[in-house]
Amino acid sequence: MIPTTTISMTVNGAPVGPHEVPDTLPMIDYLNDHLGLTGTKFGCGLGICHACVVIVERGDGTRDTERTCINGAASFDGLKITTVEGHADGATLSDVQQAFVDHFAFQCGYCTPGFVNEATLMIETLKQAPIPKNEIEATIETALGEHICRCSGYVRYYEAMRALIEQDPRLTKES
Ligand code: FES
Ligand code: FES
Repeated sequence: MIPTTTISMTVNGAPVGPHEVPDTLPMIDYLNDHLGLTGTKFGCGLGICHACVVIVERGDGTRDTERTCINGAASFDGLKITTVEGHADGATLSDVQQAFVDHFAFQCGYCTPGFVNEATLMIETLKQAPIPKNEIEATIETALGEHICRCSGYVRYYEAMRALIEQDPRLTKES
């Protein structure tokens, strides 16, 4: 008998649960199969490619990304989650999503939900702590460097983020 846990969380602003789930259930399966949120993609399944990351907000207000292929749904109990479905406002894409479209950043798009979540968190961080312009490249590399794109989309993902950061005066400061 597989042990179960009853979980509740907030997903894209809406309360979800309580649901009784097996302790072995990966978060990505909970999102895809139980909640019908299929935007979160299963890539390597080993915690390496970061295609599957979602944004997690903890009780103290701190926000981070977490991989959903190697972490169980039960470990997200009580947290606020943002998946790729939670970024657009109706038909209006978020700034990050629009930048990726404008720069033709992706090809198959399988890695894109992970990039959207990670890049959004990076922009949020820069709003709190602007950087000198000569640190833009390194900041993008640090934020997105663990995300693997098998279609070799890195250059345009990075171009899109560079343009977004450079055009928003809130995100940079004089060095
Ligand atoms: S699918 Fe989760 S890290 Fe690759
Ligand atoms: S666009 Fe295909 S894996 Fe990145």
